[in-house]
Amino acid sequence: MLIIGNWKAYVETVAKAKALALSAKRLALSGKHQLVIAPPAPYLGVLIAGKSRVAFASQDLSLTVGGAETGEVTAAALASVGVTYAIVGHSERRAHGETDQMVADKVRHAIAHKIIPVLCIGELERDSDGRYLKRLREELAAVYGPLSPKERLSIVVAYEPIWAIGKSAEDAITPADLHEMVLYIRKVLSDYLPGRGAQSAKVLYGGSVEPGNVRLLAAGSGIDGLLVGRASTDVPTFSALVKAIS
Ligand code: PGA
Repeated sequence: MLIIGNWKAYVETVAKAKALALSAKRLALSGKHQLVIAPPAPYLGVLIAGKSRVAFASQDLSLTVGGAETGEVTAAALASVGVTYAIVGHSERRAHGETDQMVADKVRHAIAHKIIPVLCIGELERDSDGRYLKRLREELAAVYGPLSPKERLSIVVAYEPIWAIGKSAEDAITPADLHEMVLYIRKVLSDYLPGRGAQSAKVLYGGSVEPGNVRLLAAGSGIDGLLVGRASTDVPTFSALVKAIS
């Protein structure tokens, strides 16, 4: 499984960042999963230094190509410190005004810099008319539509229902519902990825994943991995979570 720890803005000292990264590096050595850390940008260079099986992600990606752009962290800068993945279109970025178009541009920009985009999609709420399914289709269409067949293959999709983010295990999606959603996402992807492309595309789940519910969510739901927020920012919790599915 691909397990991405999205530290968001929870980690505010380099000492804590180092302790979390060290623990993840140890977990990665003994386990069978691909672990990825998405720390706040200032820690990336420090944490990537040295050889390890852990890969690194940025939590976002700027569309700027450099120059007089105070405050922007460019894709080229991220690539140059060894970032492998970029989370794109997280609901917490979309809440700050990021549109489907911007997300699509960022995905293409990441790919152009050989950074694997982790495209976050997810509905704000469920409704009985199935509008939430339409929204997911729109989010995928906006990104996949304009891309070439080759570019499409490099995307990792993270399904993160917004209603399930940042809560606790009781609020997470049920394994049965997750299974349905993964089937739906692959069905939409089959419009864009020919042959077995939609089946082999990586689809992750995120939203209140904890050591207590991870095993049920992972078993039989058809996901290829997890995008873990809060539970990835505490050493014992994250290691319990990874061990629960090892
Ligand atoms: P959470 O966050 O695990 O804290 O719910 C997941 C995410 O937003 O990526």
